[in-house]
Amino acid sequence: MGDARLLHPAKPVIHFDTQHLHDLLVDMRDTMQALNGVGLAAPQIGVGLRVVIFGVQHSPRYPDVEGVPETVLINPVITPLGEAMEEDWEGCLSVPGLRGLVPRHAHIRYQGMDEYGEPIDRSVSGFHARVVQHECDHLDGILYPMRIRDMSKFGYTEELFPGKEILDE
Ligand code: NI
Repeated sequence: MGDARLLHPAKPVIHFDTQHLHDLLVDMRDTMQALNGVGLAAPQIGVGLRVVIFGVQHSPRYPDVEGVPETVLINPVITPLGEAMEEDWEGCLSVPGLRGLVPRHAHIRYQGMDEYGEPIDRSVSGFHARVVQHECDHLDGILYPMRIRDMSKFGYTEELFPGKEILDE
């Protein structure tokens, strides 16, 4: 947070299944795994393209985390399904060590392409919907602290959740 590249709107991908795109995805997966993340957007590694990856398996290590399929999502479009909003805690690999309570649409449809240009079209809820909204915000230069309504619900992970292992987005 503070790097100008995180605040710029990212550009659409035009060419699919290219070496450039596959190399970018290798970098993104390596970064996400090294930092123990559940999602990552290309601007977080300094690349201004509309590419996000996310996914996590349900595991006893993170009992609160629902499984989300491993996904490459390019040029995403999010459509809220209904008016319902939910607040929950988020962290971000670009805002290390902090957590905040963030409102998100409870139900969304998301569309886009994978790295081969194959269409993706899913309707999801809850944690899956939250992760997608968080990652896609990165493509529009929005970091989750900008969405926190009550700044008393923003703080250091080790103060808010002592001793707990937590995944960032
Ligand atoms: Ni993030």
